[in-house]
Amino acid sequence: MKKVELRLRRMMTVLVTLALFFVALGCETKGSSNETIEELKEDVSIEKKIKIGFSMDTLEEERWLRDRDLFESAVKNLGAEVEILAANGDDALQILQAETLISQGVDLLVIVPHNAEATATIVKKAHGAGIKVVSYDRLIKNADIDLYVSFDNERVGELQAEAITELVPKGKYVYIGGADTDNNAHLFKKGVFQVLQPLIDKGDITVIYDQWTKNWLPSNAYANMQEALLANDGEIDAVIAANDATAGMAIVALKEAGLAGKIPVAGQDAELAAAQRIVEGTQTMTVYKPIPTLAEEAARLAVAMAKGEYIDTSRKVNNGKVEVPSVLLPPIAVNRSNMDETVIADGFHLMEDVYRGDTR
Ligand code: BGC
Repeated sequence: MKKVELRLRRMMTVLVTLALFFVALGCETKGSSNETIEELKEDVSIEKKIKIGFSMDTLEEERWLRDRDLFESAVKNLGAEVEILAANGDDALQILQAETLISQGVDLLVIVPHNAEATATIVKKAHGAGIKVVSYDRLIKNADIDLYVSFDNERVGELQAEAITELVPKGKYVYIGGADTDNNAHLFKKGVFQVLQPLIDKGDITVIYDQWTKNWLPSNAYANMQEALLANDGEIDAVIAANDATAGMAIVALKEAGLAGKIPVAGQDAELAAAQRIVEGTQTMTVYKPIPTLAEEAARLAVAMAKGEYIDTSRKVNNGKVEVPSVLLPPIAVNRSNMDETVIADGFHLMEDVYRGDTR
């Protein structure tokens, strides 16, 4: 009897040990299956990456190519995908392209509007599909946009006018504006006139010509400059142009009138051609807007927003409909004397390109 009992006990011990062993094994298996689930989850999220749609007005100016490439790589570095379409300055096409991005199921739409008002349609459609919208560089007006990431564009105009009025505190000014369909063009102009107005009021400065440049086309800026020269018998003391592309063609018109390099000209964008003109003396200054910072910041915020994160911005900009949460980066005035420590030091342009191999 005792022997049977002993055997039974031994059997029980073996059974308990085995049970414990399997339980332990079970736990491990469970642990590793947890890991597998995590891995699977990761795999799924790799497959279902956040997708950002980037609807651009144009790739005309040098800067927009940079914006496109930098934004694309910034989004990719954040582990998301990006689909980019550019509309060649065509409102209808931009709306169509944005609709395509929406129907492709992008998680968020980033827009550089060609027309500040017309693109409000896109915002409505995106919101209807539950997609948030970020206004990039240019503000979309009268629409319920979710975020605006740009530079302090009024400051751009102020920097231009501050630089030129320092050189020409009294005289006849020409203002070559941007496209009046672009909210930025209005902000640049506002900034310029904020500085000029007290001098205009004193009678020191007269603005003898002030026109928008339809669609930002340099050929239109050239025609404007010619018109200004003609109407004023070439008696012009300073030119402020809304960007470098328009400044470039204004300078061509000045050259034809024998005035290039004789009167100050301001532009903005820090385009390579403008930096070269500054070094050569036909353009006085430009405004450098570090595009890498804009593209990276916009990409970071867009991806975070697409993931459902709350974006807290201290600034708000009224777009006619709402107070838009905004991030406005500071622009930098660039002339011959700080070229090296700004655009060149930043790697925005190469020294040999700006100076075209010239040893100074
Ligand atoms: C941008 C400028 C650009 C211009 C023409 C503006 O909205 O801020 O940098 O030169 O558009 O494309």
